Amino acid sequence: MRSLLITNIGELTTHSDEGTRTDAAMIVTDRVEWIGPATSPHAADEIFDAQGAAVLPGFVDSHAHLVFAGDRAAEFAARMAGEPYTGGGIRTTMAATRAASDADLRSNVERLVDEMRRQGTTTVEIKSGYGLNVPDEARSLRLASEFTTETTFLGAHVVPPDVPRDSYVELVTGPMLRACAPHAKWVDVFCERGAFDVDEARTVLAAGMAEGLLPRIHANQLTEGDGVRLAVELGAASADHCTHLSAGDVAALAGSQTVATLLPGAEFSTRSPYPDARRLLDAGATVALATDCNPGSSYTSSMPFCVALAVRDMRMTPAEAIWAATAGGARALRRSDVGHLGIGAYADLMVLDAPSSVHLAYRPGVPLVKEVLHKGVWVR
Ligand code: NIG
Ligand code: FE
Repeated sequence: MRSLLITNIGELTTHSDEGTRTDAAMIVTDRVEWIGPATSPHAADEIFDAQGAAVLPGFVDSHAHLVFAGDRAAEFAARMAGEPYTGGGIRTTMAATRAASDADLRSNVERLVDEMRRQGTTTVEIKSGYGLNVPDEARSLRLASEFTTETTFLGAHVVPPDVPRDSYVELVTGPMLRACAPHAKWVDVFCERGAFDVDEARTVLAAGMAEGLLPRIHANQLTEGDGVRLAVELGAASADHCTHLSAGDVAALAGSQTVATLLPGAEFSTRSPYPDARRLLDAGATVALATDCNPGSSYTSSMPFCVALAVRDMRMTPAEAIWAATAGGARALRRSDVGHLGIGAYADLMVLDAPSSVHLAYRPGVPLVKEVLHKGVWVR
């Protein structure tokens, strides 16, 4: 494979034994091959001069709902005029998604993945959850797997209006799971008042695990429920949202391998208090940041925006937020080959139009991601 030398890197963040370096260079193929000072002699098939810019690992967006049709701009406008967010709009998107053609759904995912790539995201997780019947959940996951290996079965998003509650859990854990499991790595459930209670959530995740899927969960978004503790009990890779946590939840996360994935775009777009990242970090929990990109609660594809919110409004330092948006996301997906630029990691990185990664939070809303490399290939 062709080698690429990236030189004159003003600040190289690696999240690995290579540390954070100034005046650095690196050689990559599809993987990181070598890191050293910009001044040492080296040769490669191609050379990119970073001209003093910052280089950091590509973002790992570990939570996104990209398979859907339509939008809910009117619902957002009503919220900004004082209406609460309930999750009830999920059924509106379900209807639009079921009615859409494969081609329309595919081009919507493609559009959003493109937006993400241009903003530095090189790994994305994609959930189903707007089909809510066997054919549309299976189709959502087939489409998602055209774009990522990080596919998540979220048949248990809400109970659809056309199925009674008890039989829906049976459907999700039976025929729907069997149709979806071949296309999914993960199983997820929205554990929340108005969606699924903790016993239903345990049933859904246990059934998924029995089919070979790995558990993750939407927990404690709108209320302080038992979802986080269930995640820790099951050894889930991640508990996502974590907006309303008891002291026991924080301690449970801190003593576990379960990542707390915070989704500040959702609090921004529902005008809700942000999760307390500082409390989680100070307790020793592992924190990830993700977009939660979806047409209801968080219609952003921008990891730089989430980093800026986390720094400004969740009291994370820029370095903590950038780690959470890269290495933290990789932990939440149990991936060791992305989220860092150690030797042997995928050559997934971004070059900023700025001398340091702090600028991502310091200059919010500015398109600072200048170039993105994905597995050694420039994304243009
Ligand atoms: O993660 N919380 C549940 N699911 C999504 C919202 C989905 C929607 O409102 O369409 C979330 O925020
Ligand atoms: Fe979500």
